[in-house]
Amino acid sequence: MGWKLSLVLTVSMAVISACATTHAQSVPDPAEVRAAETESQMTNEKRIQLTLGLMAMEFGGHKKPEGSIPGAGYVPGVPRLGVPPLRETDASLGVTWIGGARSDGATALPSGTAQGATWNEELIEQGGAMIGSEARLKGFNVMLAGGINLMREPRNGRTFEYIGEDPYHSAVLGAAAVRGIQSQGVISTMKHFAINPQETGRHFMNVKIDEPSLRESDLLAFEIAIERARPGALMCAYNRTNGPLSCGSEFLLTDVLRDDWGYKGFVMSDWGAVEAVEFALAGLDQQSGAQLDEGLFLGEPLLKAADKDARYQKRLHEMAQNVLYAIYDVGVSQTLPEKTSEEAPDGMQLALQVAQEGIVLLKNKERALPLSKEVGSVAIIGGHADVGVLSGGGSSRSMPDEGPTVIVPVLRGKNASYASMTDEMYHGLAPKTAIQTMVPDARVTYRDGRYLSEAVQIASTSDVAIIVVTQFLSEGFDAPDISLPGNQDALISAVASANPNTIVVLQTGGPVAMPWLDDVAAVVEAWYPGIMGGEAIADVLFGEVNPSGHLPITFPVSLSQLPRPQLDGADTVEPSFLGSGNPNQTLDVDYSIEGSDVGYRWFARQGARALFPFGHGLSYTSFGLHDLALSQQEGEIRASFSITNTGDRVGADVGQVYLVSGPDGAKQRLVGFGKLTLDPGATGKVDVGVDPRLLAEWENDGWAVAAGEYRFALGANAVALGQPVALNVDRIRLDASGKP
Ligand code: BGC
Repeated sequence: MGWKLSLVLTVSMAVISACATTHAQSVPDPAEVRAAETESQMTNEKRIQLTLGLMAMEFGGHKKPEGSIPGAGYVPGVPRLGVPPLRETDASLGVTWIGGARSDGATALPSGTAQGATWNEELIEQGGAMIGSEARLKGFNVMLAGGINLMREPRNGRTFEYIGEDPYHSAVLGAAAVRGIQSQGVISTMKHFAINPQETGRHFMNVKIDEPSLRESDLLAFEIAIERARPGALMCAYNRTNGPLSCGSEFLLTDVLRDDWGYKGFVMSDWGAVEAVEFALAGLDQQSGAQLDEGLFLGEPLLKAADKDARYQKRLHEMAQNVLYAIYDVGVSQTLPEKTSEEAPDGMQLALQVAQEGIVLLKNKERALPLSKEVGSVAIIGGHADVGVLSGGGSSRSMPDEGPTVIVPVLRGKNASYASMTDEMYHGLAPKTAIQTMVPDARVTYRDGRYLSEAVQIASTSDVAIIVVTQFLSEGFDAPDISLPGNQDALISAVASANPNTIVVLQTGGPVAMPWLDDVAAVVEAWYPGIMGGEAIADVLFGEVNPSGHLPITFPVSLSQLPRPQLDGADTVEPSFLGSGNPNQTLDVDYSIEGSDVGYRWFARQGARALFPFGHGLSYTSFGLHDLALSQQEGEIRASFSITNTGDRVGADVGQVYLVSGPDGAKQRLVGFGKLTLDPGATGKVDVGVDPRLLAEWENDGWAVAAGEYRFALGANAVALGQPVALNVDRIRLDASGKP
């Protein structure tokens, strides 16, 4: 009886050794030594050069910087000292398209949410290496990737760019992506530091949250991810956090990032997030996309400030050193690659694998799926499934060389100049083509779904009806609610009443409500599935691939279950891509309501039942999760468990270990997980380290794990949990750096 271990192990040793690398060490850090040496040979005129990034395009009266490649940004190098220029491209899903300005495309991975749904650290690292390699071959050496903001707000227009709602899960997978990118000698950011939950009023909205809640949630995700990946750069967010703008927040950029965590890379601003030279004193190292700001605040003004004020001079040394540190630590080459001399990893294959593993089978009544390849006729309705799959909007959009297959205009008026960002676009192989290829002898019909009568007609005369529904999300805007836009709910209901074999394929940025759920046979969440998404959808529907994705975010029944049933600012802030609002407009949003209990933890606290819980995902086989065991030895907590494939097909499952209570009562937190691919009848074992910070409370400037009984449970999602197992934990006290 053979069994396969496809990756897994969220091993605590990795955490521990990575921790050591970001904190003060007895052995000198070679990148730090080299950065100091190079920096000491610079004049202030050269130092300030490293503190200012311009957009790599003509904008706002500024020319496209010489030597830049059309992309997100450019920082000139210092040839005399062998310091390369920084050529920056977005983003987490691949080298971006920037409206076709570069006239070459790139491989689009599925959305961050889809990547999160794979729960497959190794695969996500390979995906990172693939996009990093594409970036390098195009001449870029910085990728504005690593989007790991926690999904606190399912209506957030950028939900699709992020990994999930849990700090540990987001950190593990986000770090894997960044390690992959940086393995190619390309600096990756992690962004948007530190809490950036909604787009409405994005340039001025003020996150209000108490420090323990922030430390235990969004900051914890960054903290663990930084330890596991050593990103060369962090990008601070647009919004305010408890008052100051994030890029001018001494608390975030100095107290937490440098003093507590010992971070050594550089902090770049988001594009147009800087308001004054004083941001340098707060801890900002580089003003990016500076043409979008009211002025160039770093650069020349910093030079003048440094001449007069020792605090600025001190910071200028540090700022330049931090940038150089990233260059040396990541191993950024001084020269542009020879485009012909290297082969990129097989991008399409990786994009396909991530899409296949990210698709989540949400519902499968009476084994409606997989569909038989002997099917006689298939009706495909809606979602532009005849021409491609949906891509998210904004700065993260990747497209192939030929660009989108369909463009649906979304916002015009004052937003018209951002159309290449905000329009709804489709790309890649059409699901219809992939399905027809799968069943060449079947009659496959497509209608766009605008007319219910037509959709009903083809559904009622086909063996199976596949409805593809979409929710387009974009940077710059939030969804006003979680309904499928347009007439799609009515379309599903009408088709479901015409054909009992109705399969819904969702292409959404995040969770949507499903008023029709009881009426359909099966539901598949394909997210924005990337350039190979059409094929991955067909593979899952027809059983070529056994689905193994699990939700990285809770699907609520309705908005009334959320901490903020009404999206703050939805009624007062005019939709605008830049999100700058009216002069002096303010918007405070209270995130202390849920505090660190984001997503499934909020649902557990409220005793609310989700439509589909965090971690949920079905398979065409069945699994048994068993033998959870916890131990604590010399301070290290470990969990182990086994998974058995109890069905009749090869498949992969994700075992999830949750803390369910501590000495003070109920408390739910994901503390470990492992994904195994198993043959029928096979059993595999997972052994994971449990980071004590996941059990801890933030108290008195450090982490406190009270002594006492902690109970853990193993489950296939955050709700379907097995019998709890108790562990008596000795008291653990960690300082703000996460060390004893
Ligand atoms: C986004 C960033 C992005 C930057 C550069 C901003 O609008 O918030 O995520 O990296 O633009 O394109």
